[in-house]
Amino acid sequence: MSQMHPSARRRLGNEDPSPWRRRFFLLLALLILVPGITLVYLAHRFLQDRPVTYEGIEDHFKYGSTGGERESGFPYWIFQAMPQVCAHHLPGTGYASLGFIYEPDRDLPVGMSKRRHMGIDRVFLNCAVCHASTVRTSAQAPAQVYTAMPAHRFDLHRFEKFVFDCVADERFSGEYLVPVIDRMSGGLSLLDRYLVYPVAIALMRERTLMLRSRFDFVFDQPDWGPGRVDTFNSAKVLFNWPMKRLPKEELVGTSDFPSIWNQGRKTGMQLHWDGNNTRVEERNKSAAFGTGTTPPTIDLQAIGRIEQWLLGLEPPHYPLPIDAVLAERGAPIYRRLCADCHGNSGSDFSGTQVGKVTPIADIGTDRGRLDSYTYDLAVNQSTLYAGYPHRFAHFRKTFGYANLPLDGLWLRAPYLHNGSVPTLRHLLEPSERRPQTFYRGNDLIDAHNVGFAWEAGMDQGTDQGVRLFLFDTRVAGNSNTGHEGEAYGTTLSNADKEALVEYLKTF
Ligand code: HEC
Ligand code: HEC
Repeated sequence: MSQMHPSARRRLGNEDPSPWRRRFFLLLALLILVPGITLVYLAHRFLQDRPVTYEGIEDHFKYGSTGGERESGFPYWIFQAMPQVCAHHLPGTGYASLGFIYEPDRDLPVGMSKRRHMGIDRVFLNCAVCHASTVRTSAQAPAQVYTAMPAHRFDLHRFEKFVFDCVADERFSGEYLVPVIDRMSGGLSLLDRYLVYPVAIALMRERTLMLRSRFDFVFDQPDWGPGRVDTFNSAKVLFNWPMKRLPKEELVGTSDFPSIWNQGRKTGMQLHWDGNNTRVEERNKSAAFGTGTTPPTIDLQAIGRIEQWLLGLEPPHYPLPIDAVLAERGAPIYRRLCADCHGNSGSDFSGTQVGKVTPIADIGTDRGRLDSYTYDLAVNQSTLYAGYPHRFAHFRKTFGYANLPLDGLWLRAPYLHNGSVPTLRHLLEPSERRPQTFYRGNDLIDAHNVGFAWEAGMDQGTDQGVRLFLFDTRVAGNSNTGHEGEAYGTTLSNADKEALVEYLKTF
């Protein structure tokens, strides 16, 4: 009976009285519901655009999205698997060896955000990757994270090269990556294993190889070392500049990551190292390109939250004891020599020259960063956000470096725009007495000179196994000249220099 053909059963008369209706519903289900449910599933899976968000603003800054994952995001699991598959392209173990900072119980480093986009969790850099770092008060003390200080340990150059080299490696394929992802993620679904990841890997490879060919000028540049980036040559790539045809003087503009506290009190100042923009909103939105966003993909609300916070954010106090008597002796020296250009103190930025540009002939520091920013680039930047109410209008070419406030100075070493002077004490020496080479990337405070451990043997190990970088001031873009002479304090007596350095700890 059970083998009997349905029509035969019906003929026997022991069947549903309205077979056509049942068939109709069955058909309806097949034609509408099944594809419908599949569509809803796929839409749910592939059309979501949902950033991971954070209540606390510090967490938002460290781990929140500015929208860059949409356009530039790495698929989360591919990003996590790359250090294993491409271990031979890393200087040590994992991303920490590039100076990324991992806080306990976090799967992503400070400065990376996650967003569900097109069916897959994607991650990319945010502001904190360049504007947050760690400090140790003694060799044994745990590293403490400070937001809005320069990311002095993060080697962006090596990170870029790691990504480019890994993606170009034959191991960057489903064959190598999928098994690692499967293991790390605790098991992939069939859809992910056979469709989503193979496609994602192929797309990422394609796209990154294209970027690699556009950004290949970074392979010809001297090592930036940790805490630095070539800000405006990267910007030229976005405008499709023919990088190979740029004049040599324009091609090395490596600069230190700056600190970004107190943006409110810096309103109207000519900032960026060369003072090329007076508007904090434009500096923020321009910075957001560095986090992979584009005018249509930028998450203005998320950036707005950060902007708002930075307006009033004050730097943390120096964490070690300060010799109050000595600092007291340094204060009048500062007011006499430095306050006009750098402001009355670390919190009062009044001064006739603050936020203005000192011509290169007077300041005499390395020209590379200045020359890398050109009039042509300024003009092109004015087309950014064309069609939006916030179209850029304040970028301009200058001819020197900006007299900047010195808030949170103790966290800003190495000093000058190219990070060529390891400590404050050295900045008060004429350039021929500043160290010709020194180490960057250590987060141990040098309390005597004010800066971070810079000499071989001053504690080589940082807590997360970062390799220190030997900075050579003889390399193009790295000159440690300038900011010297009587007006800049380099002719003071040793006792006065010590007092001035002690006073600067209070900034
Ligand atoms: C790739 C590293 C990087 C990222 C990411 C980055 N910045 Fe920056 N930021 C820099 C560098 C380098 C400068 C200095 C540029 C110069 O003058 O050469 C800077 C300058 C700034 C300044 C101006 C500081 C001053 O006083 O002159 C602000 C404000 C700022 N960034 C905010 C942000 C915000 C907000 C974000 C996230 C949307 C962000 N940055 C993301 C590297 C970065
Ligand atoms: C004529 C203006 C002027 C005077 C006077 C001056 N500076 Fe500067 N200072 C600058 C400029 C411009 C820069 C940026 C130069 C560069 O980065 O290439 C700078 C940079 C610095 C920096 C580096 C900041 C950083 O984040 O890396 C420190 C520290 C500093 N000055 C301290 C002092 C002290 C201390 C005095 C007084 C003894 C002083 N300056 C006098 C103009 C001045």
